[in-house]
Amino acid sequence: MSRVPIVGVVGARPNFMKMAPVARLLRRHPGFRFHLVHTGQHYAAMSDPFFRELALPDPEYHLGAGSGDAAEQIARIMTRLVPVLRKLRPRLVLVAGDVNSTLAAALTAHKMGLPVGHIEAGLRSFDDSMPEEVNRRLTDAVSDYCFTPSADADRNLRREGVPPERIVRVGNLMIDTLRRFRKKAAGSNILKTLGLRDRSYALVTLHRPSNVDSEEKLSDLVAVLRKLSGRLSVVFPIHPRTWKSGLRIGLWSRKDRVGHGSSAPRSRNGLVLTEPLGYFDFLKLQSRARVVLTDSGGVQEETTVLGVPCLTLRENTERPVTITHGTNRLAGTDPGRILDHVERILAGDVPPRRTPPLWDGRSAERLIRVLERKYLRR
Ligand code: UD1
Ligand code: UDP
Repeated sequence: MSRVPIVGVVGARPNFMKMAPVARLLRRHPGFRFHLVHTGQHYAAMSDPFFRELALPDPEYHLGAGSGDAAEQIARIMTRLVPVLRKLRPRLVLVAGDVNSTLAAALTAHKMGLPVGHIEAGLRSFDDSMPEEVNRRLTDAVSDYCFTPSADADRNLRREGVPPERIVRVGNLMIDTLRRFRKKAAGSNILKTLGLRDRSYALVTLHRPSNVDSEEKLSDLVAVLRKLSGRLSVVFPIHPRTWKSGLRIGLWSRKDRVGHGSSAPRSRNGLVLTEPLGYFDFLKLQSRARVVLTDSGGVQEETTVLGVPCLTLRENTERPVTITHGTNRLAGTDPGRILDHVERILAGDVPPRRTPPLWDGRSAERLIRVLERKYLRR
């Protein structure tokens, strides 16, 4: 019997961690033929290291879509994906998360009459000003399989009228990757490189447009981080969107950032600024931090499993289990409130940790079993 062709589409940093465990199992499965497509939404430091570290196969097709206006970016991905899907004629197109590449690929496949499987379906922030929220809802609407990470996601989908047979709770694929590589990441020398001691620093990431695109908001948040640096070291691997925004408004200059391979930590008013880091270095930094401050989705989940206190610098989260089960707290973006939250953590008021159900490192296995039942049953 010939192998069943399945295409996985990735494009932006958080996609890689979610697709890697599925790619690994599908590639060695005798019943499936897996093809990886990269849209090119992220590139260089936001893409290349993850292929090496997570042992993702080189993409068979790279669409080179790059950055730019969202509508144009989505349109470019769609147009360039059509001939690829026409050629490969997959029986399923897998997409992950909530980035523009996710929506573009799901919509293209759906319009071509190809079934779509959405990894990390059902998450909702109920905040339509977030570009990701629209991507999530539209992707789920055209997905034949909504692979969800948690019970709240199932409920969201049911409330929107998604038929129950399309909803399959498999758990958290990003956590499969964390569990697989945690030991390897422990070998990273990043603390030494940056001159940090265990639990002596705060780790920060920021890239949501609502936090970093406005001069006032980003300046306020960086001022909070500078205040915080009077209490403990603050390490800030800067997302390119945030870097460009801060350069534009003079919050930092090009010489303020530690580059790859550089051993001399540089600090700007107490902040250690670095380029976006590879997965192992970043995971090591997360696991040894005293507190993590972030607006990332994935980082809320990873800190939950690592048991490290996380303050989410947003007013809402599409990942409520990280609060009900994990170590996450919604700190918002008001400077005084953020600093109060940090003080509480430094005083030992740390949320207890319970790992959410099915965040056990076996989500990809469950997903593959669904595909076996659907495609390989004789
Ligand atoms: C995207 C996702 C966001 C996700 C984030 C993960 C959407 C709508 N947003 O946001 O959900 O949390 O990725 O990191 O899909 N740039 C570079 N190098 C790169 C990529 C981007 O310099 O490799 C710069 C470009 O100036 C670009 C800007 O960053 O215009 C924003 O990139 P884009 O992919 O549009 O959105 P992100 O902010 O990265
Ligand atoms: N991450 C990384 N290097 C960094 C910052 C983040 O490897 O410098 C990883 C992080 O561990 C997680 C993923 O990137 O696995 C989260 O992606 P991001 O925050 O870009 O997107 P989001 O989750 O908000 O969509």
